[in-house]
Amino acid sequence: MTLKAPGYIEAIAPYQAGKPISELARELGLDEAGIVKLASNENPLGMPASARRAIERELAEVGRYPDSNGFALKAAISRKYQVPPEWVTLGNGSNDILEIAAHAFVSPQQSIVYSRYSFAVYALATQALGARAIVVPAKQYGHDLDAMLAAIEPDTRMVFIANPNNPTGTFLSAAELQRFIGRVPAGVAVVVDEAYNEYLDPALRFDSTKWVRDHANVIVSRTLSKAYGLAGLRVGFAIARPEATDLMNRVRQPFNVNSLAQAAAVAALDDADFLRRSFEVNRDGLKKLQSAFDAMKLEYVPSYGNFVLVRVGDAGAVFDRLLRAGVIVRPVANYGLPQWLRVSIGLPEENDRFLSALPAALAG
Ligand SMILES: Cc1ncc(COP(=O)(O)O)c(C=O)c1O
Repeated sequence: MTLKAPGYIEAIAPYQAGKPISELARELGLDEAGIVKLASNENPLGMPASARRAIERELAEVGRYPDSNGFALKAAISRKYQVPPEWVTLGNGSNDILEIAAHAFVSPQQSIVYSRYSFAVYALATQALGARAIVVPAKQYGHDLDAMLAAIEPDTRMVFIANPNNPTGTFLSAAELQRFIGRVPAGVAVVVDEAYNEYLDPALRFDSTKWVRDHANVIVSRTLSKAYGLAGLRVGFAIARPEATDLMNRVRQPFNVNSLAQAAAVAALDDADFLRRSFEVNRDGLKKLQSAFDAMKLEYVPSYGNFVLVRVGDAGAVFDRLLRAGVIVRPVANYGLPQWLRVSIGLPEENDRFLSALPAALAG
């Protein structure tokens, strides 16, 4: 007798992560040091030194459970984003936040709306609940907000929006989102997933917590995995009104953010210098890759994140040839984009390695 899962669990396609450097080194007998990974939208600067020092200070305490309420981290978030600590839910990465939100507000059989070519975890969170996905066709590889609004049904309880979007890198302006939020029924939670917010040009940034003040159904999701350089520690958070926050905290694992992660996150949130360097390295690298694609006459989706989606034809074959050259990028056939590769922005020398390997990989 084998274990049987519910049909909606068996139907889940597993999440496909970027290929680890160690795995490629093993498979091809390559030296790890010579491999460039531009596959997981990680911060090429690594972690901030301030966070490393905070971890070292905290290390002696790992025999104890972490602070379940994350007092110091919530206080740091509260200071930085000018919201009360009672508006903050901590997550084991923002992936956890997305799942916590879905668990808290959606029952099996109810529906969740999200866009085609949007973050894979929206589908996973929906399916894991046994909820119904309403996947709305994209507009120029981004969210079609009018179509998403029209797609909301009486049983819809949540809408996921990634801004900027992964894997396409598209962006919705404050005005577009505000208009959308103003029209969504009050009983439908709008999760505004801003994982890549810190990479936006300052002229495009806006304070989405303003919508949390005005609308009890808005949940803003943020992460320390990208511009803050803490992907391996897993820290994310939601900002929402206290009633929603209280419900999300009921379904959250009590110790979902470990003590080293909490200490590192407090330090990273305060490290304006690291954040600025993350932004600059990304801005310059993105410009370089997009200009190179222009010169090579490769189609790409202009990106607002720390990655860019480029059309290469037979992406599986180009991906394989890049691997053999020691460059790991991300195929996105699982997103329904079999001709495209998603390339994360690296350090200048990593971007150069990718660009110099690309012509041969395209030529076959
Ligand atoms: C749009 C978006 N949201 C959320 C996440 C989750 O990141 P994390 O769980 O590391 O915070 C990602 C990661 O790639 C993402 O692209």
